[in-house]
Amino acid sequence: MTTDATTKPTVRPSSLPVKPRIYSGIQPTGRPHLGNDLGAIRNYVALQDRYEAIYCIVDYHALTHVHDPEVLRRQTLEMAAALIALGLDPKRCTVFVQSDRPEVTELCWLFNTVTPVGWLQRTPTYKEKRANQPEDVNHGLLTYPVLQAADIALPKASLVPIGKDQAPHLELSREIVRAFNARYGETFPEPQAVYTEAPVVLGTDGQRKMSKSIGNTIEILAEPDVIRKQVMSMVTDTQRILRTDPGRPQVCNVCQLHRHFGKDYEEIWDGERAARTGCVDTKKLLVERIIAHYAPARAMYSELLADPAHLRAILNEGAERIRPIAEATMTEVRERMGLR
Ligand code: TRP
Repeated sequence: MTTDATTKPTVRPSSLPVKPRIYSGIQPTGRPHLGNDLGAIRNYVALQDRYEAIYCIVDYHALTHVHDPEVLRRQTLEMAAALIALGLDPKRCTVFVQSDRPEVTELCWLFNTVTPVGWLQRTPTYKEKRANQPEDVNHGLLTYPVLQAADIALPKASLVPIGKDQAPHLELSREIVRAFNARYGETFPEPQAVYTEAPVVLGTDGQRKMSKSIGNTIEILAEPDVIRKQVMSMVTDTQRILRTDPGRPQVCNVCQLHRHFGKDYEEIWDGERAARTGCVDTKKLLVERIIAHYAPARAMYSELLADPAHLRAILNEGAERIRPIAEATMTEVRERMGLR
């Protein structure tokens, strides 16, 4: 994953045009699973050289559903370690924790005043979350997309790599920025989504999107035995009963995942179709490939977590890099709004 990390120059000659700025936020869900990597993190890694990339672990957003301080702190550090272990290089991009730059909460408040309540109440994710946690419909859930708009606007990012599930949030971010610009003058670029190419990664149940809350994950940074157990438990082609029945790779989640772990997946699929191989063989191969692929990341992840002070220093440096950008934006915004 970290292939060319050391060969690329880290200092940009000042004569070259500044690369467009991208921003993305990721929830501090702790150790990421295969769906997080294929759906988002791989893409972040690929984009860090083409753009001036800023990646943020959004702990303020997480407070809308995580209420245990120790859990939040631990999961934030775990996500940070994982992002770096999976290939984000703090020399080539900026990785920081949202609450280390509290200016974003001020910008969120200011954005609240240009955002009609109706826009937020209509947001599909708000309706979903209200249904998922009816005992805790806190105001943060409603204003969540305003904070997300502030995240993106604070560094004036113009591109936002996200999964399709975030489309409604990004549409709102654009509308909020537009409303601000209309009232106070052109201040922020309207952010554009950069959709990740990876299709939705299904969980080990072969039915639903891989998700920690469902418990159908493959934990790529866990001990090999854990990965082995999770992959071997995967639901495959449910119509293939006998070992001699032909398999249907297009509906088999194990076969689909092989796409990401070797160029020879078509051959593996042929073996399944011809019943030369059984589901168990194909799973065993997948397990070994996943374990091998993530071995360097797994080692680096453990190392980073074993030295939290060092990890914290990396994150502090990321937040410090954003400081002058955030301060400049806030000075401009306060002036435009009549606060100075
Ligand atoms: N809402 C996003 C998610 O749940 C996380 C997020 C917060 C985000 N702020 C952002 C994503 C800004 C992109 C840009 O995945």
